[in-house]
Amino acid sequence: MIVQESNAISWEADYRDRINPKLVTRLLRKSVPALEASDWHLSQVDYGFVESVLPLNQATTNQHGTHQAALISLSADYTGGTALASLLSGVPMAGVHQCKPADSASLWLAAMDVKYLRPSTGHLTGRCRIDEKTADNIVYRYSRGRRILASLTVTFESNGELVAEGVLKYFAQPTSQLLDSTSNRSLLFRQKIKASARMIAGVRAGQDLNWNQNSEPGQRLRIDCPHAVIAAGPHGQLLAARLRKALPQLTDMVIARTQHIDHTIRSTPGMRQLVLIGAGLDMRAFRHAIRRPDLMCFEMDLPEMLEERDRVIQEIDPHESLKRCCLTVDFLKDDLAEVLKNCPEFDPTLPTVFVYEGCSMYFEESVNRRVVQSLMKMMRNPDSRLWIDFVTQQSVEGRTKVPEITDFLIRMDDLGESFIFGCDQPSQFLESCGVPACEVVGSGDFLSAKANGGKTDPVYQVYNFTVSRGSDCSHRSDCDSRTNKPR
Ligand SMILES: C[S@@+](CC[C@H](N)C(=O)[O-])C[C@H]1O[C@@H](n2cnc3c(N)ncnc32)[C@H](O)[C@@H]1O
Repeated sequence: MIVQESNAISWEADYRDRINPKLVTRLLRKSVPALEASDWHLSQVDYGFVESVLPLNQATTNQHGTHQAALISLSADYTGGTALASLLSGVPMAGVHQCKPADSASLWLAAMDVKYLRPSTGHLTGRCRIDEKTADNIVYRYSRGRRILASLTVTFESNGELVAEGVLKYFAQPTSQLLDSTSNRSLLFRQKIKASARMIAGVRAGQDLNWNQNSEPGQRLRIDCPHAVIAAGPHGQLLAARLRKALPQLTDMVIARTQHIDHTIRSTPGMRQLVLIGAGLDMRAFRHAIRRPDLMCFEMDLPEMLEERDRVIQEIDPHESLKRCCLTVDFLKDDLAEVLKNCPEFDPTLPTVFVYEGCSMYFEESVNRRVVQSLMKMMRNPDSRLWIDFVTQQSVEGRTKVPEITDFLIRMDDLGESFIFGCDQPSQFLESCGVPACEVVGSGDFLSAKANGGKTDPVYQVYNFTVSRGSDCSHRSDCDSRTNKPR
């Protein structure tokens, strides 16, 4: 007896809304270009059973067996994967369906052993049938939040003959568990943070804004960030190109925020320290150090990201001309003030710019609150600044009547970059964290000023930049009497 216990939803409804062959074919072909090019499609989906077709056509055929074998393997993966997904009733698959990490499953292939028995000379039908016992076990484990490891057999037949047979091992589990950075960080989480940092570096890699393409070259807002090209690498540049196509406004927002932070840094009198919180692959310190050779850069991030950052910086600065200090932190656990206090190179009394860029929207409110409260303790110079960007709360909840914004948010979800935290009144949030004074600038206003008042996209309304000031704490009792260290 097959148990379908993960979600209270009928097979008919699940088939209609999530797993029918037409829908899944369209979604898979959207995210896997080779499936589109080969005209691969699913012909049948049932609970625990999938049939697919890899047609014989120009894209799938040539005289080289390896080409055919590679496409058979690709078809095997998506045939078996869809069969497994058919059992997870009502659960959208990350990277395929439009979904948020909290309610989706992630599925990935761990190993594949395919026997190629004879060349295929016709359309190739792939089939995967999951036996009842395996299906029950998969449903049982998933419904209890356990990781699934399933070995599935996929066969390929052409003109009535068996052409290939593969055994594929899949892992599947709730996406939220994989992205949970509290315990052992999964490979997927590590890949995701690096890919996302590379993509942002790719956007910064010297691109013009999208929205004022028609203006004179001299009037366009651009950033010249040659190090970003190296930081992004070919992977980041490809991801950025995809992002630019899917979400032109987001690339403009990243360029706008880069300019706004640069302006904040340049206008901070006597600035000596730059602290990048969630540094990712932001290489702006190299640009600013040209004018401020005394600049000391503190880079705070997870250890795996700092490793990647080090690898890139080796290429940019092999002679270590920039003074930098890497500080391993986990925002979910660590007190950033303690980490900075324990760093002998950091001096909280020097004019410092703290940059918490592209992060607040991906952490819960409580985490952001702790980060801000902690950093405020380290802003002991009245000229110190804390730069943070916030999205609005409506963009987190998807609550808006503006079609352009709704469309933008759907596309963000599609890219797996859904927001978690937003606030409509950033100054109130910051004040409640102990910030004495702050400036708020809407990204739309910033862009509009750059475009000499030109019309900007409504999507920019959801994104604000804030600059908070440090306070003169010479009279405050919570500031310890740490003395300036000579530099
Ligand atoms: C979207 S990226 C932004 C990177 C950079 N600020 C920029 O704008 O290019 C978010 C950064 O937060 C870091 N991060 C994610 N989770 C973290 C955590 N729990 N503790 C510390 N850093 C984290 C990631 O490694 C990544 O570098």
